[in-house]
Amino acid sequence: MNKPTITCVLYTRQQIEITVKKLADEITRDYADKNPLLVGILKGSFMFLADLVRQLDFPLEIEFVRVSSYGRNRQSSGKINVVQGIRTRVKDRHVLVVEDIIDSGLSVNHVLESLRNKKPASLKVCCLLDKPARRQMTVPIDYTGLTVPDKFLVGYGLDWAEQYRNLPDICYLEDAKP
Ligand code: IMP
Ligand code: MG
Repeated sequence: MNKPTITCVLYTRQQIEITVKKLADEITRDYADKNPLLVGILKGSFMFLADLVRQLDFPLEIEFVRVSSYGRNRQSSGKINVVQGIRTRVKDRHVLVVEDIIDSGLSVNHVLESLRNKKPASLKVCCLLDKPARRQMTVPIDYTGLTVPDKFLVGYGLDWAEQYRNLPDICYLEDAKP
């Protein structure tokens, strides 16, 4: 945290709410009778998953995996560490991976690969934010909230060096002029 930064709002809490509702409607249509297992990727997805499941009025279960790749930088290190894997039985379950933002695609692909090995009945991806500009691996995204520009975003669960996750809006960071 060596550079002072300012935050500018990109999506307001109202726009986020509308987007989460739209995703919840699509997921309800596809999963209402499937008792799906929603797998949130920590830490970034905690707020999105919490809002999303409150809009899903049918039986479901929630699990988390925790991966880290960014460290304290704005650029992905490219190395994905699984800090906490999944403990629930996945075999024959309908699994929906819930991610805050997909950037290079490395994190979600890593999680998908390990889940696929456990032989789920189905495996899909829901992300609130899709940042396609710097994609390194193709990701099959089934539910996309918003396609975002190539800016470093914070708020609504997303961090920079563990800061800003608590902002209710999604903002981008601008370096302050010296
Ligand atoms: P990927 O592996 O490059 O697709 O990045 C995925 C993870 O990196 C996301 O789950 C986020 O936690 C984090 N990330 C990617 N882009 C941003 C950003 O703009 N702001 C904050 N975190 C990000
Ligand atoms: Mg994340």
